[in-house]
Parts: sequence; structure tokens; C-alpha cells
Amino acid sequence: MAKADTRMQLKFSYLDRQFANPSPFFKELRELVRSGEFTLGPYVEKFEAKFARYIGVKHVIGTNTGTDALILSLKAAGVKPGDEVITVANTFYATVGAIVVAGAKPVFVDCDERSQIDVRQIPSAITPRTRAILPVHWAGCPADIESIIDIARKRKLAVIEDACQATGAKVGRQFVGTFGVVNAFSMHPLKPLNVWGDGGMIVTNDDRIASWLRLYRNHGLVDRDHVQFWGVNSRIQPFQAIIGARLLDDMENLIRIRLRNARLLDRLLADLKEFVSTPPRPRRYREVYTIYLARVKRRDELFRYLNDRGVEAKIHYPIPLHLQNAAAGLKYKLGDFPEAEQQAGEVITLPSHQYITEKQLHYMAGLIRKFYGRGRNAQ
Ligand SMILES: Cc1ncc(COP(=O)(O)O)c(C=O)c1O
Repeated sequence: MAKADTRMQLKFSYLDRQFANPSPFFKELRELVRSGEFTLGPYVEKFEAKFARYIGVKHVIGTNTGTDALILSLKAAGVKPGDEVITVANTFYATVGAIVVAGAKPVFVDCDERSQIDVRQIPSAITPRTRAILPVHWAGCPADIESIIDIARKRKLAVIEDACQATGAKVGRQFVGTFGVVNAFSMHPLKPLNVWGDGGMIVTNDDRIASWLRLYRNHGLVDRDHVQFWGVNSRIQPFQAIIGARLLDDMENLIRIRLRNARLLDRLLADLKEFVSTPPRPRRYREVYTIYLARVKRRDELFRYLNDRGVEAKIHYPIPLHLQNAAAGLKYKLGDFPEAEQQAGEVITLPSHQYITEKQLHYMAGLIRKFYGRGRNAQ
């Protein structure tokens, strides 16, 4: 086995570096501890208001996870047991889990060459039971949300965006996660905006939905002694609101570095088209590269080759959702979503986040070149 270049470790996670100096967070955390405001309260309200200003919506409701943000959004949009919700076959499990937990049936649509929901296939998936479309902005890249909103308007369906991977992504000047009626974000540690643990966010411009969600995420409590309706405890934690609010100040800078890295990587891989392809990147879309996806020949071999040499590549994901055991009851079979199935065997995620240097990107691209016999001293 070839020796890894120990000077070049391209780790997938950057959290140890992002928080190498946690001191700047501690002043406010100390204030929080002294205040005893451990559930909801001013720190949460401040963060929600700041996030609302950042993405340009009226209401933000912080939750404990992106998964809960999705479940609560579906309920708030009126999805009921027996309804069908259309989503894409190549997403993270939580998208589908949320639909099922809300009591509805997930109906899959294939993805397109950008690994986003294939909008052309949505109309034929609509039935009299369809209540909502749940597109995912996969990998931090906008789905064709404008066309989805058009279809939904004509067919009188709700759109709930899964923007869990896409905080900061935009279509034109508008942030994704602000097109649908009620939409979900994740602040899981490896999302662009994170909060030292799990966290989620629901956003909406609808006053009635926002009021319902504020009560529902907190047991349906109007005040300490009065329950308006039965709800859950899905509150974001105040200490996390402090972290999130501070990190939001650096969001645009972080996205700028990710974009710079992704563009360089695109260029470095451009002449390997025979073996490596990156998705088309529409000019009006701002991606945030939560994961940098490429499609490659001999994927599993390349995956091992890179990992053996210090490049922590990942696979998001090797099995599309309709072929998971959990989906057995939905009666899909191999061949139903050929694009998602093909991509599951070809996609690889390459580390390109804000702590990866230009030199490291050259090193990684050099390894890929070598692997395909195109490098200097090719083996
Ligand atoms: C597309 C997508 N949806 C939903 C989620 C769920 O978010 P969380 O992990 O915060 O519950 C994730 C998280 O990885 C995701 O990537």
C-alpha cells in the first residue's frame, strides 16, 4: 500500500479547528448561566430574529433538530395521515422519516443530473392524495425551486423546503428555504451554520403558521398554566442560540471561502472529464457546498485510494432511499429511479470546506489524477 503524505491530511470534519479557541463564546455563555434563562427566553429570541433578518423572512422558530423542523413544518402545512408527500429518492433519511412520522406516505421522484429533484417528473407523481411537495436542496445546492413553486401553485399543493444542507444558498437574490410556505433548516455540527450540537430552524412568512409552531414546539403552552393544544418539546437550547448568533456574523465569509475552494476544485478536475464529472452549476444559483459532490468512475476504488492517502472522502449515499429496508412497504424496486440508482454508485464527496487550503486541494486533485493514470509518475 502506498504511504500517505502525513503532511497532507484532508479531514472531512473541521470542527476542532473552527472551535480551537472557544473563548470568544464564553462571555455570553457565562451571562446565560448567571441569568438562569435555560429554556427559550431572550437568547433564543435574539438568534431567531437575527436569522430571520439574515435570510429575509418574517418568522423563525428554533427547534432541537433539523429533523424536528421538518416534522413540525409538515404538520404546520396541514399534512395529515393518509396524505402523500412528494420528495426525491436521493436525500438523507430524515427527509423521508419526517414524512412518515407526520403520518403521510412518501412518494419518490428521481433526481436530475445536478442530483436535485427532477422537476419534470413531479407532475406525474401527483395523485388526488398528494398534499405537499418536499424538495431537498441537496448538498447545499438549490433545487429548481421556482419551477416547483409554479407546479404547486397550479395544483394547489403546499411546498415545504428541506433546506437542511443549504443555509446560505440562494436563487438569484433570494435565499433557499424562503420559497415554500414553511421550511426547515438543520444546524447539525457539519452544516454551514452550527450550534455545538444538534439544532434546527423553521422559517415562514405565514403569521398563523408561526403562531401555531411557537406553541406546538413548547407543549402547546400559552403560559405556564394553560395548554392551547397538545404539543411537543422541540425547543432549541439558549446556549446554542448564543453560538449560532455569533457564527452567523461569519456566514458570508465562510461561504466565500467555500465557493473559492469549490471553484478551484472544479478547475483542477476539469480535464479529467472522462473519469470525473461535477454537476452543471447554473449561474443564478449560489451553492454553499455543504458537501462537494463529484461523479467518478471506479468510485469504490478511488474512495479507498484517497482515504489511504489522508484524504477523508465520503459517500453521500451508496443506497437510494427507495431501496432501503425501511422503504419496503412502499413497494418500489430496483430500476424505478435509474438516475438516483446510477448516482448512488458513482458519487463521492471530496473535502473542500473552509479549512482546506489551496495546497491541499492541489494535493487531492493530484492524487485523483494519479489514480486515473493522468499524473506525473502515474502508477
Ligand atoms: C437533507 C437533510 N434533511 C434533514 C436532515 C436532518 O437534520 P438533523 O440532523 O439536524 O436532524 C439532514 C441532516 O443531515 C439533511 O442532510
